[in-house]
Amino acid sequence: MTAVRIAPSILAADFARLADALAVAREGGADLVHVDVMDGRFVPNLTFGPAMVEALRKSTDLPLDIHLMIERPEETLDRYLCDVQLVSVHVESTAHLHRCLDRIRSSGASAGAALNPGTSSVLLEPVLPHLDHVLLMSVNPGAGGQKFISSTYDKIRGMKRVFGSRSVPIEIDGGVTMENIAACRSAGADILVAGTSVYGQPSPAEAIRALRLRADQGASAP
Ligand code: DX5
Ligand code: ZN
Repeated sequence: MTAVRIAPSILAADFARLADALAVAREGGADLVHVDVMDGRFVPNLTFGPAMVEALRKSTDLPLDIHLMIERPEETLDRYLCDVQLVSVHVESTAHLHRCLDRIRSSGASAGAALNPGTSSVLLEPVLPHLDHVLLMSVNPGAGGQKFISSTYDKIRGMKRVFGSRSVPIEIDGGVTMENIAACRSAGADILVAGTSVYGQPSPAEAIRALRLRADQGASAP
């Protein structure tokens, strides 16, 4: 099992103080910074565009994990490929998943497909060789602070079976807390996104450390 990676989601941070949010992510030992790009179409909410991603890139040396919740990502994808480390596009958002994944990979970033809770992982089978990671939504996309959907555990285990001996990191996004992070890890999750359970806490840096410890307890469970 690969080491767990904790990815604080700045969606839950104070947008007027994102530099501080990046600094506490570093202080807490975060592995990635998760950036939720929402276009007001694929999801009702509207957040960041490429200029913000570039600004974040200049403000931290932590790897950036870009989660594109946008319609037709193939049209604007290139503008997000600014020395970021992971990029995920939603299967539900594009008729050109294969093309998007190859474009992300050719930029040097890890190419990921994201699945809504109601979307079957069977849809990934035609693109398996083109995937570097998978993002499974454990809430419906569009907002932080929602309740974790427990059928995600089975979906993680199913995904692991699909990949077989190939080690493709599985990222879980939405509603990850101290209460469920160990179970996510036991089921096979590699990257855990945490918004409210980091930036909604009195000490976000301490919360990152605590989540990692708890996740490691899951990894060592029988
Ligand atoms: C939801 C976003 C998540 C969100 C998670 O659409 O993709 O990344 O920030 O927030 P929490 O951890 O609060 O559920
Ligand atoms: Zn996200």
